[in-house]
Amino acid sequence: MLYSEVVMDHFMNPRNVGTMDDADAVGEVGNAKCGDIMRIYLKINNDIIEDVKFETFGCGSAIASSSMATEMIKGKPLSDALNLTNKAVTEALDGLPAHKIHCSVLAEGAIKAAIKDYYDKNGIEYDKAMFKEVDHEHAH
Ligand code: FES
Repeated sequence: MLYSEVVMDHFMNPRNVGTMDDADAVGEVGNAKCGDIMRIYLKINNDIIEDVKFETFGCGSAIASSSMATEMIKGKPLSDALNLTNKAVTEALDGLPAHKIHCSVLAEGAIKAAIKDYYDKNGIEYDKAMFKEVDHEHAH
């Protein structure tokens, strides 16, 4: 089968889908190649991600990746979320087809963009080098 059972489960029953009115941070990235867009909302308290929601105009793999990625960062400190790689998400999904790996990068990028938004809004210092790829991928 092309997609693992975990991917199918997260595609059919995605976790944490939706928007958030009182989000502390929002991150959005687009993929220039396929045109898909991913938006992540974070509720942050004392550096802990208390809640997370995502919206996407994206393919099934992007939906599954975001669903898994949001589950992996919920309840975690921002530093953990910053270290979440698309590789870790892909592994948690029991793999993605090679030509679908870029879809998991979208989830990673949107999370990083949201954390950058949080740091910017709150005047928190950060290492700009950590967000290089976010700037590069940003849709705007
Ligand atoms: Fe665009 Fe998957 S094809 S995110």
